[in-house]
Amino acid sequence: MISVKDNVFRLDTENTTYIFRRTKFEHLEHIYYGTLLDTMESADVLAQKQTIPIGSSVNYTESHQLYSLDNMCLEWSDNGRGDYRLSPTELKMPDGTFVSDFVYASHNIQDGCITMNTLPSAYGGDQTLVIKLKDTSCSITLDMYYTVFEKTDVITRRVVLRNESEKPLLIRRMMSMMVDLPDENFSLYTLDGGWIKEAHLHKRPVEYGITVNSSTTGDSSNRHNPGFILAESDAGQEAGHVYGFNLVYSGNHYSAVEKSGLDIVRVSLGINPHCFEWNLAQGESFESPEAVMTYSQHGFNGMSHNMHSFVNQHIVRGNWKDKERPVLLNNWEATFFNFNESKLLHLAKNAKKLGIELFVLDDGWFGERNSDKAGLGDYSVNSKKFPHGMKSFADKIRMLGLDFGLWFEPEMVNQDSELYRKHPEYAVQHPDKKPVLGRNQLVLDLCKSQVRDYIVKNVSSILDEANVSYVKWDMNRHIAEGYSSSLENQGEFYHRYIMGLCDVLTRIFGPRPHILLESCSSGGNRFDLGMLCFSPQVWCSDDTDPVERLKIQTGLSMLYPPSTMGAHVSESPHQQTLRETPLATRFHAACFGCLGYELDLKYLSPEGKKDIENQIAFYKKYRRVFQYGTFSRMKVSKDNKVIWQSVSEDKNTAVTGFFQTLSAAAESGDKLIVTGLSQGRYTIRTRPQRLYIERFGGLIKHIMPIELNPEGILLRTANRHYSMTDCIEKYKCSAKALCSGIPLCSQFSGTGYNKKVRMLGDFGSNIYITEKIDMEEKNNDYQY
Ligand code: DGJ
Repeated sequence: MISVKDNVFRLDTENTTYIFRRTKFEHLEHIYYGTLLDTMESADVLAQKQTIPIGSSVNYTESHQLYSLDNMCLEWSDNGRGDYRLSPTELKMPDGTFVSDFVYASHNIQDGCITMNTLPSAYGGDQTLVIKLKDTSCSITLDMYYTVFEKTDVITRRVVLRNESEKPLLIRRMMSMMVDLPDENFSLYTLDGGWIKEAHLHKRPVEYGITVNSSTTGDSSNRHNPGFILAESDAGQEAGHVYGFNLVYSGNHYSAVEKSGLDIVRVSLGINPHCFEWNLAQGESFESPEAVMTYSQHGFNGMSHNMHSFVNQHIVRGNWKDKERPVLLNNWEATFFNFNESKLLHLAKNAKKLGIELFVLDDGWFGERNSDKAGLGDYSVNSKKFPHGMKSFADKIRMLGLDFGLWFEPEMVNQDSELYRKHPEYAVQHPDKKPVLGRNQLVLDLCKSQVRDYIVKNVSSILDEANVSYVKWDMNRHIAEGYSSSLENQGEFYHRYIMGLCDVLTRIFGPRPHILLESCSSGGNRFDLGMLCFSPQVWCSDDTDPVERLKIQTGLSMLYPPSTMGAHVSESPHQQTLRETPLATRFHAACFGCLGYELDLKYLSPEGKKDIENQIAFYKKYRRVFQYGTFSRMKVSKDNKVIWQSVSEDKNTAVTGFFQTLSAAAESGDKLIVTGLSQGRYTIRTRPQRLYIERFGGLIKHIMPIELNPEGILLRTANRHYSMTDCIEKYKCSAKALCSGIPLCSQFSGTGYNKKVRMLGDFGSNIYITEKIDMEEKNNDYQY
């Protein structure tokens, strides 16, 4: 709810309050952002006190020695008026100076959200406050939008700058929002990394000066995700003041956290000013992307729960909103480019037997695309691989009872392609320099309408012809030479590229809402709210090693819900890390997301097949809890454990993933803690999982009646056809006892094996299912 009284603006969500006010000189002073307050609270009491002049300050007017913008908490600030902190703008004003001074002119409150013209934004908000600011000497206005999403405790912000002056205005920096928060010994948490090590969570204290989290790659990037967190330094998963920020944008982003000498922390975020410059002629406006902020006093999990609900309810849209996502098989790691129709049909048949629902044909189905050196940009189906065309192949997949999905990389072109030979001008490249290549490809210039038309026409026609129900939209290189011959001002390139991408996605998928779109950009280059407005799920990383995924998905889970995370089970040893991990752990990491398989099923042993069949049946039964449950990162007392938990919407069921990274000798006891359940009594069960005898190596001879060579053919064959059951624990207790935690059985430590020993070792894991006792009747028909 938004209220305005005595120059004070107050924005309430269910559990938070945000307050700011107009000052006597009509600047907007930030007052409070935190836990929900009583309606009676006075802004004067909550505001920062300035009762004595501060030396070296530059005062806004001579008459007011206490009014220095540099010393205040503000909602917006300009250059050249005495505030020396980072301004959200750098504007070359129509008068030729860099001095601006935006002050309050008017405001209005409207129901719901106000849709943007050039970019996607959140929808379904409760109310929007629009405050118009005007520069004190030039005819330039700045509209500040605040939308409240009450139930999810989120407020979004954005601005629109408009030039009413006859002379041009040049924008060199334009943030979506800024806010000044008094320091609470804050730490800054960012999600950083690179290819196959995306979104690792990093913590650093907020120090004096500016810390920047940004991307310059043309996408939101796997280097630094646009989302970040500010938390009091001793905040934990369940308690402590935590603020989350994000941007609904998939291009170059920028956020700055600056601590001033007076211990005020300025947070600003928006489009990256790097290589950015935008001209506004008279009558023109510029919209910033929408920024998202939330606050929770319940630690990191509280903040994440807000962000998760916000993404599920106000960012993801269309037919797939809130809908369970299919279990898919993707042929990429099974075949790479080397496939034909019969090989794929064989794979699909095996997939169907295991319970897979969707078959995804990845890279290599078109043009001369037999390696990553050729074919991108061409859409003719490769007739050697598909002699009867794509529709015929897709029909065969559907005849098997599977849905059909297709990979595209529509924004790219190989120099060795029909498209490039015909239209070299479609590619982004500097007119007088040799192009720089990434994965042997160039980027198509989405600033050009003819390029966008080409993509829309060709992608749409194959989608319709083959009746495709899922698309994987890949983007495998960063943009380098930000140049388009269609632009007069090259400073507009990167932002216009993103507007072009939004245009293409809207035109292709708007009329085809039944298609489930998964955005992929070599993994996590586009894990952002901008893409999530189009694609309900995103491929987190090319790295499917479960131990790496624990880091990647833990990092992403700070700001994004499991329903958005594409997560697959692949071969072991893993193709990027050479790490050997149990099949159960690969599954357990992947099932806290949108489950898929990406391996050559024909090489599975009979035991492996049974195992995967059981995994998929289990996942389907608890899919809603895994994808849409309340996901939490559980507190751990040992460094070699990661524990994830998801609780059903009705709070009667929980699934817990208990993961061990490197095992320690003679491990001490472990506890299972389950939180967030409704009061009552519960059963707790381990998901039964197979224990392959090859895991025991030489130890096996101690339990066999005859001595066998651990490397020999007999044991290898036995391993394919026989496996043991891992320790199954079953308990009954109350939600209260689960909150404190129940001790689990001992771990294996070399002194023997029995049915009550948890066989974790390196990279072992278990899933525990906790269900309310009155639900047991309904569920006990389930066979593992
Ligand atoms: C990168 C993706 O992340 C992979 O899953 C696969 O689709 C390849 N591209 C195909 O070229």
